[in-house]
Amino acid sequence: MTTLNPAQINQYDSDDMLHLLSGFSEQCKRGWEIGESFKLDRDDGQPPSNIVIAGMGGSGISGDLAKAVIGARSTCPIIVNRGYSVPAFVTAQTLFIAVSYSGNTEETLLSVEQAAAQGANILGVTSGGKLKAFAEAHNLPCVTIPAGQPPRASLGYLLMPILSILDRLRLIPDFNFQSDLDETIDLLAQLAADFQPGITESLPKRLAGTLHGKLPIIYAPQELEAIATRWKGQMNENSKSLAYCSVYPEMNHNEIEGWKHPSALTQRCHVIQLHDPIAPPQTQRRMDITAELIEPHTAGVTAVHSQGSSLLARLLSLVAIGDWTSYYLAILYEQNPTPVERIEELKRRLET
Ligand code: PA5
Repeated sequence: MTTLNPAQINQYDSDDMLHLLSGFSEQCKRGWEIGESFKLDRDDGQPPSNIVIAGMGGSGISGDLAKAVIGARSTCPIIVNRGYSVPAFVTAQTLFIAVSYSGNTEETLLSVEQAAAQGANILGVTSGGKLKAFAEAHNLPCVTIPAGQPPRASLGYLLMPILSILDRLRLIPDFNFQSDLDETIDLLAQLAADFQPGITESLPKRLAGTLHGKLPIIYAPQELEAIATRWKGQMNENSKSLAYCSVYPEMNHNEIEGWKHPSALTQRCHVIQLHDPIAPPQTQRRMDITAELIEPHTAGVTAVHSQGSSLLARLLSLVAIGDWTSYYLAILYEQNPTPVERIEELKRRLET
């Protein structure tokens, strides 16, 4: 296992991603306050028939996480829409939440235009850009969040206003958000303290050392798909590493057979299994048996468990562990975690 030299942090993290990671707890608190102080015109007691959250990459993940936090408690269907077009069921009965940190993401902008044309109730969440301009031009509600950070490091600003608004629209029954939030903020602050570079032994440092030079394969119960997607995305964007994710129980019906070839590759894959009590006991059993079956074909299997008591705290504890792991993995790969040059270059080329 590769170990991390603290001097490398200063050398590679020249844009100070460490500062943003360390402030995740505070950002969640501020994001919630932004959501709570947003004036909701549309609180007429008529719940929407469905909720569509549109967004890509570091913004779209806030939709996945909102959906995961609400989980089975949701009183109406929630879908996360990643693309240019929206389904025909988007109508005047839909709450369409368009999330784009920059406000300039092509897919999200086209989808919000289409949703508006189909009569949906639009809500924007953005730091500015064309989405904010579109909302202003059409007199649509729009939550404005602080600008100037990478989208993926703005998760507290993106996620918390969505949860606050869904809570105020009474779409999450039996939800005591304030106490869940208090627990979450305290836990995230504690994790940030435990995961600081000056602490010699920490779970993210250990995981990063294990994953260095390997292909990370993130497996999770279906209920934690958002977290597995976040881990993958953070390893892609922060660590500049390929990563892959998949969920139980579906992978037991196909992917489990693939753990044989190409053997030179499978032996270089390290599996991370994300665990949380939200998984049905049957899924838990499947995860344990699968680990035994595939382990000989892998570089190793490591279990990572959520922390905390409320679902919100548990989900965000796993997000924090993954974010910090991707950060230390970036440093081990001698990468600056902040810039995403290919994503930006692609966007530039698409504009011409
Ligand atoms: O992390 C990133 O930079 C990307 O994944 C972006 O979030 C993605 O391209 C969408 O951009 P935005 O979040 O500004 O809508």
